[in-house]
Amino acid sequence: MGQAFRSHTCGELRASHVGERVMLSGWVHRRRDHGHLAFFDLRDRYGITQVVTNAHEAAEAHVAAEPVRNEWVVQVEGAVRHRPPGTINAELATGEIEVAVDAFTVLNASKVPPFYVNEEQPGLDESLRLTYRYLDLRRPPLQGRMLLRAHLASAVRRRLEAAAFVEVETPTLIRSTPEGARDFVVPSRVQPGKFYALPQSPQQLKQLLMVAGYDRYYQLARAYRDEDLRGDRQLEHTQIDIEMSFVAAEDVMATVEEMVTAVSREVLPDRPIMQTPFPRLTYEEAMSRYGSDKPDLRFGMELVDLGEAVGDVDFRIFSEALAGDGAVYAIRAPGCGNYSRRQLDELIDLAQRHGAKGLIHVSVQADGSLHGPLAKFLSLTQTQEILEATAGEAGDLLLAVADPDRLVAAGALGRLRLEMGQRLDLRDASTLAYVWVYPFPMFKWDGDLGRWDATHNPFSAPLWDEEAAMEADPGAVHAQQYDLALNGWELGGGSIRIHRRDLLERAFALMGHSVDGMRDQFGALLDSLEYGAPPHGGIAIGLDRWSALLADQDNIREVMAFPKTQSGSDLMMGAPSPITPEQLAELSLRVVDQDRERS
Ligand code: AMO
Repeated sequence: MGQAFRSHTCGELRASHVGERVMLSGWVHRRRDHGHLAFFDLRDRYGITQVVTNAHEAAEAHVAAEPVRNEWVVQVEGAVRHRPPGTINAELATGEIEVAVDAFTVLNASKVPPFYVNEEQPGLDESLRLTYRYLDLRRPPLQGRMLLRAHLASAVRRRLEAAAFVEVETPTLIRSTPEGARDFVVPSRVQPGKFYALPQSPQQLKQLLMVAGYDRYYQLARAYRDEDLRGDRQLEHTQIDIEMSFVAAEDVMATVEEMVTAVSREVLPDRPIMQTPFPRLTYEEAMSRYGSDKPDLRFGMELVDLGEAVGDVDFRIFSEALAGDGAVYAIRAPGCGNYSRRQLDELIDLAQRHGAKGLIHVSVQADGSLHGPLAKFLSLTQTQEILEATAGEAGDLLLAVADPDRLVAAGALGRLRLEMGQRLDLRDASTLAYVWVYPFPMFKWDGDLGRWDATHNPFSAPLWDEEAAMEADPGAVHAQQYDLALNGWELGGGSIRIHRRDLLERAFALMGHSVDGMRDQFGALLDSLEYGAPPHGGIAIGLDRWSALLADQDNIREVMAFPKTQSGSDLMMGAPSPITPEQLAELSLRVVDQDRERS
C-alpha cells in the first residue's frame, strides 16, 4: 500500500501486528465518545478497524478528531495494541486489536449523507439510492456484491482461457438488424441520415469469427436492448459470450457446464449445486412438468396432467379444454386447504394475469371428499382419480388450470407453482439448481405477423434428422437450442448454428424473409457461409443475472454498479437528456415536437 496515506488497509491488522506503528486511511463508519476517549470505526473496501484517540495521551490528535462525523475521510497514525479484555469483537477480522492514534488528519469532510451508509435501511427509497449511487456503492453490502461480481468475471475468464478460448472484442457500433428486441441507434455525423445500432448481442460477429478460424471465442460483451425493464432485465447487460467450432450441442453444453460448475464452486464454495451433471429437460417436459421453460428445480410440486382423470367430467371448462389439443393441469399445495376467500382470490388473480381464463380450486376434506366449486360435478370415482393423480391428502389445496392451449394452461399453473413454492417456503435459499432445457421447438406461429418466427435465435440449426421436414411441418421441428436455467431464471441460451447457406435461406424464407431482405440484413453472414464456414455453435450467459442469483438478489440492479431505473433513467448523471441544437444540427437531426404535432 502507498506509504503517503497508509501502511495497511482497514481490513488487515491482526494481533500479530501489535506493537507496530501503522498508518490507516478510510471513511468514518461510526464514532463513539466516552469522556476523554473517542472511538472511530474506520472503513475501507477491505474492512473495518477500530482506532482510538485519547485526550490524555495525544491531545492534539484528539482535538483534530473533534469535528469528525460519519463518512468523513481521515488518516490516522499510531500503534497497534490489543483491545482490552471484554472488548474483543469476534465478528470483525480486526476485532482483536485497535490503533492508539497519535496523529489524526482530516482528508475531507462529508455532508450528512441522504441515507445511512453504515447500516441497512430497510425500505430505503430506490431513487435516492440511484441518485447518490456513489454513496450507495460505498455501503458494505453493495461493495460485497460488486466484489463477488468481479470475482465471478475473473473466474470465468481464467477457466475459459485455460480451455483455449480467446477473447476477441467486437464493435459496439454495428448495423441495425432484427434480433428480438428493439435496437438502440446512434446517428452518423459523417453520413447524414444513417445510423449505427448498438448490438443486442455479438451474435453475427462471433459466427463470423468462427468462419475466420478462431475456433474458440469468448468475450464479456456488453449488449443493448431497448425493451421494458424488469427485475432481470436492464437496457444494457453483460454477456459471457461464447462460440465454438467443430462442435455438437453436447460439446457446448459439456464445456459450459464444466466452466459453470468450477466457477460456482470457486466463487461460492458453500452453496451446493443441486445436481451434476446438470439435469436435462426437453422444452416439452419442462412445460408439462413445471409450466416453465426455465424451471425452478429447488422444489417439486410438479404439474399433474389431469386429462385422464377428468376426461369424462361434465364440466364445460374441462370439456372445452380437452376437446382439441388443450389440457387440464393441476398442482397440489400441501396444507393450504384452509385458504381464505381473499387468499384464493389472490391466486385466481395471479393465474389470470398469466394467461389463464380462471383457476379451479378444491380443498381435500378429512373424509377424502373435495370441497369447492368443482366438487358437485365429480362422481366418487372421479374424485378418487383426481386424488390419486395429484396424491392429494386431507388439508391440501388442489389448483387446476384448463385451457384449449396446453402451453397456456401449463404456463399459468407454472406461475402459481412458483407462488406456492414461495408461500410455503419450499425453495432452499442456498441451493444452486442449474438445469438445461434442450431442445426447443424451432419455430412458433406468430398470429399477429401471420408467419412462423424463430422461438430463439434465427440462426439456430434444426435437429439434423428433422431438417428435411422443416417446410412440411415447421411447428414440429426442433432447434438445436439449449437454455441454461438457474433457480427459475433463464441464465443463458445458445445453439448450434446453421452453417450452410441453403439451409439458412430456407429457414429465413419460412420466417417470411424475401431474398433481397435477407441479403440486405444478413448479407455478410450469408456470404461467409460460402467461404468454408465450419460447423459451429455457442451460447451467451447473462453475467448480471448470474451475479444476482449468486448474491441472492432478485433484481440485477443490485449487482450492477450504475443501473438504470424502471423507466430507463440514470438518475445520477441525468440520462437520457436533450442534446444541444448544435449537436442536433451536426447530426442532421430534428426533434419532432410531439405536443405541436398532436395539436
Ligand atoms: P439471449 O438473448 O438469450 O441470447 O441472451 C443471453 C443471456 O443474456 C441475458 N440477458 C439479459 N440480462 C439482463 N438484461 C437483459 N435485457 C438481458 N437480455 C438477455 C440472459 C440471457 O440468457 N446471441 C444469443 C446467444 C447465443 O445464441 O449464443 C443471445 O443473446 O441471461
